[in-house]
Amino acid sequence: MQGEEILLEVSHVNKKFPVKKQRLHAISDVSFALHKGELLGIVGESGCGKSTLAKMLVGSLPVSSGKMELSGVDYAALKGKEKRAFRRKIQMVFQDPLSSFSPRMKIGTYLAEPRRNYDKVSKQQAFAEAEQLLEKVGLPRDFLVRYPHELSGGQLQRVAIARALAIHPELLICDEATGALDVSIQNQIAKLLVELVREQNMGCIFIGHDLALVRSVTQRIAVMYLGRIVELLDSEDLEVSCRHPYTKALLNSVFDVYCDQNEEIQLLQGEPPSPLQMPDGCPFAPRCPKCTEKCRRQIPVLRTIADGHDVACHYAM
Ligand SMILES: Nc1ncnc2c1ncn2[C@@H]1O[C@H](COP(=O)(O)OP(=O)(O)O)[C@@H](O)[C@H]1O
Ligand SMILES: [Mg+2]
Repeated sequence: MQGEEILLEVSHVNKKFPVKKQRLHAISDVSFALHKGELLGIVGESGCGKSTLAKMLVGSLPVSSGKMELSGVDYAALKGKEKRAFRRKIQMVFQDPLSSFSPRMKIGTYLAEPRRNYDKVSKQQAFAEAEQLLEKVGLPRDFLVRYPHELSGGQLQRVAIARALAIHPELLICDEATGALDVSIQNQIAKLLVELVREQNMGCIFIGHDLALVRSVTQRIAVMYLGRIVELLDSEDLEVSCRHPYTKALLNSVFDVYCDQNEEIQLLQGEPPSPLQMPDGCPFAPRCPKCTEKCRRQIPVLRTIADGHDVACHYAM
């Protein structure tokens, strides 16, 4: 990715939620960059902060601290009109498409809405574009006059993607966008996303808990654990190059075939600690088969161990 233009730069972002007079650290010191046209995957167990990060990135949840820049614009600081105008640049597709549809709104109206709202184009123009969008995501044009309940989950998700693309965002965030669909449909939707991201030269953050699927559609993967990025590397190198014990454990639970000849297979034991009671040292220490005294005392920072490969583990080389 070297030399390519940076689209999104996230620097030292934190999110704390007040919970019963305590502070829940949902996101701790997250930094990464995304290039134009790049698909970056984010994986990690449920509760590790993926959706919280996504919501901060689209601007629907304020950051507690840190900076987010899209093409050099620090957009967390924008207000009023400027904020509204900026919002179109980052669109999101959620896991449950039905929740974002109104049961009485026809698909055509739903697809035409963003262009009508943001660009005040005529109804006729917006509907003509909606027809083209349907075609782009592989759906028949007569879906314009259908209602959401007449469509399958996969078809609805295609419509949700079409709507996100209607206003030509620079960044698309898919939060478990295929998670609720059948496996065969998941792959189709993921493939469609890859094609569209390439075609429109957008950036895309593809969040999922299915490591195999995320790896197959992205160029790089960020592995999150308890609100932190613990490893960031090229997707195609995942199996051979990953160094963090958590990434290895995740891989072992997905691909039985993965095994480093010199290491015993480690499966993930237990649950992550509560984000209300963060361990003092490495967040993965309580579950890590290689944990030492240093790990219990000191949080490892995310450091570069090879070109394009960052790891937060004291012992990764
Ligand atoms: N609005 C909120 N108030 C308090 N805690 C929250 C809120 N939203 C999320 N959390 C907590 O933040 C952590 C990360 O949640 P989330 O981002 O939804 O994880 P993921 O999407 O990876 O499953 C969890 O411990 C969750 O309970
Ligand atoms: Mg989530």
